[in-house]
Amino acid sequence: MKVLVLGAAGQVGAELMRGVWPPGWQVEGRTRRDADLARPELLRAAILDARPDIVVNAGAYTAVDRAEADRDAAFAVNGTAPGIVGQTAAACGAAVIHYSTDYVFDGARDGARTEDDPVSPLGVYGASKEAGEGALRAALDRHVILRTSWVFGALGANFVRTMWRLGSERPEVRVVADQRGCPTPAATIAAATIAIAGRIAGGEGRWGTFHFAGAPPTSWAGLAEAVFAEMERRTGRRPVLVPIATADYPTPARRPANSVLDCGRIAAAYGIVAPDWRAALSVVLDETTAATAPGVAG
Ligand SMILES: NC(=O)c1ccc[n+]([C@@H]2O[C@H](COP(=O)([O-])OP(=O)(O)OC[C@H]3O[C@@H](n4cnc5c(N)ncnc54)[C@H](OP(=O)(O)O)[C@@H]3O)[C@@H](O)[C@H]2O)c1
Repeated sequence: MKVLVLGAAGQVGAELMRGVWPPGWQVEGRTRRDADLARPELLRAAILDARPDIVVNAGAYTAVDRAEADRDAAFAVNGTAPGIVGQTAAACGAAVIHYSTDYVFDGARDGARTEDDPVSPLGVYGASKEAGEGALRAALDRHVILRTSWVFGALGANFVRTMWRLGSERPEVRVVADQRGCPTPAATIAAATIAIAGRIAGGEGRWGTFHFAGAPPTSWAGLAEAVFAEMERRTGRRPVLVPIATADYPTPARRPANSVLDCGRIAAAYGIVAPDWRAALSVVLDETTAATAPGVAG
């Protein structure tokens, strides 16, 4: 089996590249440099040249606030490219695993969103990701879309690493406490993807859209609290966390108040259960702090 990973340098892409794939599988990564999702001809050529059995698209325009003023670029990468990936995969007989987001929902209701709930994105990023879902569905039946949320890992930029940095620098950190969601370790997204790819290779792929996110749900302040508890355990000091309201932290993009995802469908179809993000947090911080510790080479 040959797997082509697009966006291989991102949080999820990098975890896919260092993930444990079945023996004998060939896994090749492409970054923006060698497969630019915003340049259709180069993207098509990169996929056709590789002749993969499965394409995993981990590339995306993920700057949620910047997207508000950069609509065309966000839609080119998130909205149009997944359709091109799907069409090109169809031409070479490949299946596609793609990622989408909790931000396709407006988050106005309590409870967890299922895959059948209507989407209603609040901002350009969410709208562009919704467009990409539609473009991939229209292009190729043999697709799996994993909608995930609040991704963190030791590789790349994310909320957990930002909190670790701010908490190390400041006596007090203000964090939004009235948005709820599901933190998801990037490594578990990679592991779920590899399990799904294995099922596809065995002729047991279940196609469609699935939610995959960590448990239990929390707020950004709840996630920051967990980071600071780890900080105290490791360093003996922690900042004061000041919970604030969304209204006190204005951003260019509006975000859903409740973007908790129901992950029952992927459990039923693939036997993949939502990971506990709290256990993964410790592992991620082990790697993060080891990489930034004084005296570590590189
Ligand atoms: N991060 C989250 O909290 C979150 C939440 C829900 C869903 N998701 C979804 O999960 C997936 C993986 O996200 P992630 O957290 O791994 O994102 P990430 O760390 O931002 O990685 C995205 C990667 O895509 C690359 N990329 C951007 N524009 C590109 C282009 N034109 N051509 C090729 N590559 C391009 C980026 O490269 P550069 O570094 O060069 O820009 C980066 O390496 C995405 O589909 C995202 O929408 C993420």
